[in-house]
Amino acid sequence: MKILAVANQKGGVGKTTTTINLGAALAEMGQRVLLIDLDPQGHLTEAVGLPHTTHPATLTETLVGRFTGDLRQLVTPYREYANGGRIDVITTNLDMFLLEGQLYALQMKEHRLTRFLAVLDELFDVCLIDCPPSLGPLTDNALTAARRVLVPVESEDSSLKALALLVEQQLNTLADHLGGPIEVVGLVVNAYDKRRGRIVTSTLAAFQALPNLDVLAIIEDRKEVREAWRAQVPVVEYAPDTDVAGWYRDLGKTVADLIGLAT
Ligand SMILES: Nc1ncnc2c1ncn2[C@@H]1O[C@H](COP(=O)(O)OP(=O)(O)OP(=O)(O)O)[C@@H](O)[C@H]1O
Ligand SMILES: [Mg+2]
Repeated sequence: MKILAVANQKGGVGKTTTTINLGAALAEMGQRVLLIDLDPQGHLTEAVGLPHTTHPATLTETLVGRFTGDLRQLVTPYREYANGGRIDVITTNLDMFLLEGQLYALQMKEHRLTRFLAVLDELFDVCLIDCPPSLGPLTDNALTAARRVLVPVESEDSSLKALALLVEQQLNTLADHLGGPIEVVGLVVNAYDKRRGRIVTSTLAAFQALPNLDVLAIIEDRKEVREAWRAQVPVVEYAPDTDVAGWYRDLGKTVADLIGLAT
C-alpha cells in the first residue's frame, strides 16, 4: 500500500477536497483506496456522509494504544466501481480532538500511525491521509507514515509563505529526526480563479517557478466541487463530464505515476 499525506498547515486550501476527489479518481482507475480523516474537525467524514467510528474501535483509541482488536473494524466502505476499484474510509470519532494532546505524552509519538497502517497494508493499493490544518503530532504521524506529501495550495501570497514554512521547517526537521527524507510529490493549486486578478496569476507563476517543486494540477474554482461535497459523492461521479472531473482524473494519473502505483 502506497501512502500519501495531504497536508498544509494553512486552513481551507483544499486538503479535504483534494483527498476525496483524488481518491475517487484513483478508485475509478481500479485502485483500492483508503481515505483517513485525521482531522479532528471531521470534514472528510462529513463530506462522505459516513458515520463516526465508535468506541473502542476508533483512531483515537488505536493510536494511543488502548484498542488492540481487529483494526479492520475502523474501516467503512464508501464507493465501489465496476473495475474492482473502491474507496473505504476511516472516519473521525467524537474524542478525536483529545488525541493530539494525548499523543504529546507518548513514546514514539510520530510512529503510531505507521504501525497501525502496516496492518492494513495488504487490503489497499493506496492510502490518502487528510491532515488537519496544523503542524502538530497528527500531521507528523501522517508524514512519518507516508514519507510523501501532496500539498494543496491557494494562489495567494499567504499560501507561498505557508509553503515555505511547511517545506523548509517542518519537513526538514522531521526528516532529520526520522533519518530520511520526506518527498513532496507536488503541489495542487486549488480553487484557482484568474478573474481575481494579478495577485492570483502572479502567485501561480511563482509556484510554477519553484525549484524542486512541481505543480501537478490546477483545479479551478467550480460550483460542482461544492455541490458534490453537499451531495456526499466525489466530483468524478457527481459531474463526470465536467472539466473539473477531468482535472481530477489527470491528477490521478500523474500521482499514480509519481508514487509508483501499478495501473
Ligand atoms: N476547486 C474548488 N472549487 C470550489 N470550491 C472549492 C474548491 N476546492 C475547495 N472548495 C471548497 O472550499 C472549502 C474548503 O475546502 P477544504 O475543506 O477542502 O479545505 P481544507 O484545506 O481541507 O480546510 P481545513 O484546513 O479546514 O481542513 C470547502 O467548502 C470546499 O467545498
Ligand atoms: Mg480539511
